[in-house]
Order: sequence, then C-alpha cells, then structure tokens
Amino acid sequence: MVEFTLPKNSRMTTGKTWPKPEGATNTRKVQIYRWNPDDGQNPRLDTYFVDMDSCGPMVLDALIKIKNEIDPTLTFRRSCREGICGSCAMNIDGINTLACIYGMDEIKGDIKIYPLPHMPVVKDLIPDLTHFYAQHASIKPWLETTTNPPAKEWRQSVEDREKLDGHYECIMCACCSTSCPSYWWNGDRYLGPAALLAAHRWIVDSRDEATGERLDELEDPFKLYRCHTIMNCAKTCPKGLNPAAAISDIKKQLVERVI
Ligand code: SF4
Ligand code: SF4
Ligand code: FES
Repeated sequence: MVEFTLPKNSRMTTGKTWPKPEGATNTRKVQIYRWNPDDGQNPRLDTYFVDMDSCGPMVLDALIKIKNEIDPTLTFRRSCREGICGSCAMNIDGINTLACIYGMDEIKGDIKIYPLPHMPVVKDLIPDLTHFYAQHASIKPWLETTTNPPAKEWRQSVEDREKLDGHYECIMCACCSTSCPSYWWNGDRYLGPAALLAAHRWIVDSRDEATGERLDELEDPFKLYRCHTIMNCAKTCPKGLNPAAAISDIKKQLVERVI
C-alpha cells in the first residue's frame, strides 16, 4: 500500500491520527480534509480507522460513523442518503461524487476525502455554493411564456417531453462544474456545465416562449464559450448526465440561427 504524504510546498499539515477502535479486527483507514475557519490554523488531513464489521458499505456510512463514534467535530452535508438531494457531493479517492452512493469497496487502499475542488470552503467537507446557485438562478430556471395561460395546463407531446430526459434528473450536486478545468479558472464568468445543462433544459422545452432571449443571454465569450469539450463533466456526473452534449447543442443552435 502506498502511504500518502503531503507535498513539501503544501500549506496543509498532517493532522491528528485517531486510535483504532478497541477490539476491531477489520478496519479501514480514512483520511479526511479538515479546516475550521475559527481556529486560525492551516487545513490538515486527519486520519481515522473505521470498524468495517459495524459500518454500512457507503462512504457516507463511514463519515456518519466517524462523526457519531469518534469525532463529533467532523462537518459535512448530507440529507437523503439516496443520491437524490445532492448535498453529500465531495471528492472521494480523486473523484467528485456523492458519498451516499459511492461504495467503499470501489476504493483500493486508504480512503481519501476532500471537499469539492476549487470552491471556497465553509468548513471541513462543506463547499460554499453561493456563486454556483446564483449562476443557476441567472439562467431563469422556470417556464417563461407571453401568451395567455391555457385554461388547464401547458400541454406537451410525448416526443417533446422526451427532449427533457437527461436534464430534469440533475440534482445540482455541483460535481460536474467543480471537475471542469474551465470552471476552475473562469468560474466567475463561465457558467459551468451544471448551469448550462439547466439552461439547455429550458431552451429545448416546447412550452417555453423565451428561447431567443435565452440564447441571446448565452451568446457571450465567457458564459458559454469557455467550454472546450474536455468532458470531465460527463465523466464525473453521478447521475449519468451529459452536460457537455447539452453545451454543444446550445452552440449549434446559436450557429444555426444566424445561417
Ligand atoms: S449534471 Fe450531474 S454532476 Fe452536474 S450538477 Fe447535475 S447531477 Fe450533479
Ligand atoms: S465539456 Fe465543457 S463543461 Fe464539461 S468539463 Fe469540459 S470544458 Fe467543462
Ligand atoms: S445525501 Fe442526498 S445525495 Fe447523498
């Protein structure tokens, strides 16, 4: 097994190593990024040992066990434990994914857990998603219409409804945007794959009457065109979605409307 050592120029420090649980014979080593904005210290990597004979199979099970039984100061987000809410997104074993649906059996060797990359950290494994949510709001993620509302409901054919597949399943976990190099370097102005997938969801919605305005908004060197089709977003999405394809289609629609 390769021991993890911090790079010489890292501002992170090797943190506390907690003792193995008493009597445990089947443990796994878990290294977790820790940072507390209130203690004035640099970030550190703490090491824990989890008794696998009394732990569920998912990474989130280990985090909850550590918090409940070893170190109550460990801080992370979670809610549904079913891959639905998106709140437990973090970087596990080098991959942005959801802790509640990522099995520890998929990880060889020690388990290393960091917050989603290139985001400000609130504390420990919690990234600050304020800007990410503001970008989502900026694409107006709701139905825009100008004609009078129908008496009962906005209707849609089965074929048009199918165009929304691959979009509505997004749980806004931010795994894709935080795996995108273009978003790392230009996240202040580039909308990133999650917000652009949401924008595409409304562009292709047959009931929406603001398609032109939506495309106008995106015709910008930074908001859209910082995507260089690197495809990290599609590779990492824990829901199996493909934001890169949606982004390509937005670019195509912008080209086609001027031809
Ligand atoms: S596209 Fe996938 S990775 Fe990106 S926010 Fe949605 S669910 Fe998460
Ligand atoms: S395809 Fe575009 S959005 Fe996806 S990771 Fe690459 S640059 Fe980012
Ligand atoms: S806890 Fe909801 S997605 Fe993991």
